[in-house]
Amino acid sequence: MIFGLTSAQNSNHIPQLGKDKVEDVIAAMTQEEKVYLLMGLGENNWLNPPTGPKTVIIAGEAGLTWAIPRLGITSTVLTDGPAGLRIESHPEGFEFTRYCTAFPTATALASTWNTGLVENVGKAMGNEVLEYGSDVLLAPAINIHRNPLCGRNFEYYSEDPLIAGKMGSAMVRGVQSNGVGTSLKHFAANNIETNRNSINAVISQRALREIYLRGFELVVKESQPWTVMSSYNRLNGFYTSENYDLLSTILRDEWKFEGMVMSDWWGGTDAVAQMNAGNDLLMPGCHQREELLIALKNKIIDEKILDRNLTRILTFIMKTPRFKSFAYSNKPDLNTHLQVSKNAATEGMVLLKNDKNTLPFKNIKKIALFGKTSYRYIAGGTGSGEVNYQYATTINESFEKNGYKVAKPLEEIYKLFIDTVTKTATKENMKFVVDFHAELPLSKDQIISQVKNTDIAVVTIGRNAGEGTDRKVSDFSLTDTEKQLIREVTEAYHAANKKVVVILNIGGVIATSDWRDDPDAILLSWQAGQDGAGALVDILSGKVNPSGKLPMSFPMTYSDVPSSKTFPGEPVDNPLNAVYQEGIYVGYRYYDTFKVPTAYEFGYGLSYTGFEYSNIQLSSNDFQNEMTVKLTVKNTGKVKGKETVELYLHAPNIEIEKPVQELKGFAKTGILRPGESQEITFTLDTRSLASFWTNVSSWVAEKGAYEVRIGASSKDIRLTATFNLPETVIVEKVHQVLYPNRPVIDLNLSKK
Ligand code: BGC
Repeated sequence: MIFGLTSAQNSNHIPQLGKDKVEDVIAAMTQEEKVYLLMGLGENNWLNPPTGPKTVIIAGEAGLTWAIPRLGITSTVLTDGPAGLRIESHPEGFEFTRYCTAFPTATALASTWNTGLVENVGKAMGNEVLEYGSDVLLAPAINIHRNPLCGRNFEYYSEDPLIAGKMGSAMVRGVQSNGVGTSLKHFAANNIETNRNSINAVISQRALREIYLRGFELVVKESQPWTVMSSYNRLNGFYTSENYDLLSTILRDEWKFEGMVMSDWWGGTDAVAQMNAGNDLLMPGCHQREELLIALKNKIIDEKILDRNLTRILTFIMKTPRFKSFAYSNKPDLNTHLQVSKNAATEGMVLLKNDKNTLPFKNIKKIALFGKTSYRYIAGGTGSGEVNYQYATTINESFEKNGYKVAKPLEEIYKLFIDTVTKTATKENMKFVVDFHAELPLSKDQIISQVKNTDIAVVTIGRNAGEGTDRKVSDFSLTDTEKQLIREVTEAYHAANKKVVVILNIGGVIATSDWRDDPDAILLSWQAGQDGAGALVDILSGKVNPSGKLPMSFPMTYSDVPSSKTFPGEPVDNPLNAVYQEGIYVGYRYYDTFKVPTAYEFGYGLSYTGFEYSNIQLSSNDFQNEMTVKLTVKNTGKVKGKETVELYLHAPNIEIEKPVQELKGFAKTGILRPGESQEITFTLDTRSLASFWTNVSSWVAEKGAYEVRIGASSKDIRLTATFNLPETVIVEKVHQVLYPNRPVIDLNLSKK
């Protein structure tokens, strides 16, 4: 180096990423190189036929960042997704297979209410990301379950932002503990798949802050994901990827996000606006090159903005295993991960009904298995949330493996049906053709003939969905064939004094109120990954005591859902706008406040044992900055088990209307033996008392009496205690941004 010159100024020295300052590396770039690096090079992997050379590092990857070898800048690999790594399992030219573990879907993970468990799942997922040579997992996805018909709900955690945020944080911590990145998505308000690339979500500032942004805020503040992915939709008039207020003012200035923002694949339309907004990287890339180069040459965009975005991209690249030349093995420990997946599956299953202790099985040897899904377990959903796993065990196999006998003639009927349906499949829909096919109708005789030779009937109902489309109300309801199957199996088995169990192998909420009286027990298995079937047999047999609870409400009917009249948007057949008229009243916030009965309430789930809650203690009667809430949970039943404890807060309703109660904490006990107790401690900070006051653009905790409600579900409140907040507190003032571009009057008690 020549004395007095920086390395960039020294013409003999070409700055190298990682060795020289990032600003020097950027200064050494040509304008073309800058523009190339601001977008991925994955487009040719997606276009068929490609318009240029296909560049693939890991077959099945979602995208790559650009490499500039002369500056020491390597490509990095971005791969989906929320239920496990998604890459091709049989890549061309490979002598070995490259299967990944299908973990339970996010909804199933949230149903564990166990952040430690989710972090462990993240560790295992992240290890596959690392060992298969990727750099970023495009997950977690934490959008809110606003409406049960959203086709991607299985990829998301909950109708409640605290659960979404806590689960998302745990997942980020787990994955990133491997030294690989995550991409927190889809930021924000991507709650509708219909016209997802153009629909405009019109949301009040309060509903945005309290419901749709809150989970993202929690994850960013608690776990700093390496990257955030902006969403496809417009929000209050602007594409999220083009929205400075969202991506810079809120995400960076208010929440202190330090990482890189990437677009969703082909998201947004105006590359200049995206760059200005702080959407640093455009994925999958390429097609905006010309536009940005012209903008740069004509000074329509300030080069400094591009340099800012490039700094974030390069800072990201430097963290990646690929940049550090990590020697990946292509051999993650899939056996251990399968066990992690199964444990999570077991803990996320929710026992919805168990009349007269039908479960766990007692003196059951032979089982009649009804429903096509009994012979083809649905491990997860479709689209980028899908995983290429080796094999998903089926329910019939899992029963046999555990020493039960499955009625063979019935099995033959279903296997023949599945084979016939599979023969109609194309290469593309092979994996899911059975899931989306109508249920096989059985005659009464076919049903009745099973009763004599079996001890119990199990009926499995299956559903699948995925990105790009929303479900229909007809998919929410059970079909006539399905209802008839449950009814006729129940009639036949009850006539012989035998019981019926229904298993729900579904990704999103369905109707239950019009058939749930028939069977004796209902187990919600969700789509619980590769060994979900094994997990559910462990619950039915009593090997494991169920401890999952619902992270969303199951309504009595679809028309009870607060957004049912406006979903997906207007006009209904080709929506441009989706006005979130229900405001903050999403899920239980609505059902509880407006006293609308649900089929199964938020937080609900049965166990094979009972738990007693006692001895609630608050650290003081007056709230000052922080408060602890302590209580004791005791297993009062005959078998060991875990309990989820839920803390709801009822806040004063004087200056501003609030939901009758909101979840402000949750905890899961360890495995408690009969008679064993555990003390649970929650901490409430001022922010947990606050709601968003639009007129002052602040989080405000209103003075007055607060009631702490400790529940086994949102309706099953076991303990209460009150405290007082002596003075109204402005907890945090934030920017007055993201105004709705159309008037929206949120649902409120007087508007009811
Ligand atoms: C999805 C993202 C995904 C991306 C890359 C998009 O269609 O919305 O969630 O990460 O594709 O596969």
